[in-house]
Amino acid sequence: ELEQEVTFCVIGASGDLSRKKTMPALFSLYYHNVLPYKFHIVGFGRKNLSDESFREAAMENLSCRTGVVDKDECDRKMQLFLQRVHYVSGQYNSEEDFEKLHKFCCSLEQDEDAARLFYLAVPPSVFAFALKNIKLQATSENGWTRVIIEKPFGRDSQSYEELRETIAKYFEEDQVYRIDHYVGKEVVQNITTLRFGNYVFEALWNRKHIRRIDILFKENFGTEGRAGYFDSFGIIRDIMQNHLLQVLAYLTMERPKSFKADDISAEKTKLINSIRNLKAEDFITGQYEGYKSEEGVPEDSTTPTFAACVLHIDNDRWRNVPVLMIAGKGLDERLAEIRILFRKGLTESFLHKGNSVGNQIVIRIQPDERISLHVLSKVPGLSTELRETCLDLTYREKFEHESKDIADAYERLILDAIHGEKSLFIYDEQLEASWKLFTPALNELESEKSRPPLTYKFGDGIPSEVENLLWKHEAECGNCIEAEPPLKE
Ligand code: BG6
Repeated sequence: ELEQEVTFCVIGASGDLSRKKTMPALFSLYYHNVLPYKFHIVGFGRKNLSDESFREAAMENLSCRTGVVDKDECDRKMQLFLQRVHYVSGQYNSEEDFEKLHKFCCSLEQDEDAARLFYLAVPPSVFAFALKNIKLQATSENGWTRVIIEKPFGRDSQSYEELRETIAKYFEEDQVYRIDHYVGKEVVQNITTLRFGNYVFEALWNRKHIRRIDILFKENFGTEGRAGYFDSFGIIRDIMQNHLLQVLAYLTMERPKSFKADDISAEKTKLINSIRNLKAEDFITGQYEGYKSEEGVPEDSTTPTFAACVLHIDNDRWRNVPVLMIAGKGLDERLAEIRILFRKGLTESFLHKGNSVGNQIVIRIQPDERISLHVLSKVPGLSTELRETCLDLTYREKFEHESKDIADAYERLILDAIHGEKSLFIYDEQLEASWKLFTPALNELESEKSRPPLTYKFGDGIPSEVENLLWKHEAECGNCIEAEPPLKE
């Protein structure tokens, strides 16, 4: 695979995504010697930049990860990498400019079958132009052509359908790589192994043993200059409908027929389709104080920066196990974590008088990757004291060497796209199912009749109202557990 010549074109190269994520990921792949030997990077954007000034701007965000100590080697490789980086300026809606891009790529390429990978780092309003012009003017003549696109994939079922049609007009499904970068995160990639590679987990992974699942995303910063985009999307579309739903799909899908991309996607889609329709009453939304005075936000904005929601998966494995999803900006910490709460057993009622949460598996996606199992233990000594403690797989300790070099999600995903490996990319069917799930609730939440989001202080913890939402659902589920037929073994 290293023999295949590839030209990587970043469309929207002078923007934020390209600078902060795409270019650093490409450099890191280069540093680790996993890119094809003949690899060219061509940035395309509206700004009029020379190769030199584009390289300088890119360099600001390139770094060797902390685990890599050889600074000289890092600097040397950075210079070599930058020599492969070029820039072409042009308009996204200009066919001639894409022809110019094509000619430039041809001038770099040596092999007849050089392939092209286009990375669309542009706002959705120009997706259609860019896709059309790539197709008409800039695809590889004898090698493969692939396009990577990233959310937002529409803002509801209808706009998603329009986007789907545009993409399908110009590219075959096997050429399209849709990124959800959470799927590329190290710990998220480990969920399938944990579940299906460990009998102790898979045997307990159902409603007979699990009473609730929490998926939590918190950020201790706001919209960071992206309020213009954020305000027309809101936290539910920004985080829940995609990142958290993907995490949920990996956590709860049935075992796929194989671990090939198509089979995984089929199970994820089936899972998303079996989530009960969401209504506005399943949500609590909030907006942090001061959001409305950010640049690009209208004074009367009711866009949520925080949301909590309870979902139910209506299948035999998960019936009556509420899933609590929480996503918020402007909270007290940066954390992405899954908590699997087990039913409380004999230990709880007979041995332990305290107010325990019971067994729990905590899967920390970031920061400080970690998987831990909370258990009750006798405290050593003559006393009979019991204490909740945990069996702990902290990546930093257990994978001491490798954890210093955990790849950014974008590295994994870009590398897979180069190799044509689609299992970590989002298929069309999954997006269709996820919009079908969220669109009616979003419409209801955004209708005039709906109550406005509650206000919370920037830097606060999770609003206490979430507990009421949860109690309501847990009480409902608690009442029906007895009445449920036993789970098929
Ligand atoms: C993006 C959202 O998809 O994910 C941002 O648009 C959010 O609002 C970001 O901050 C979080 O990603 P990460 O990898 O920093 O957790």
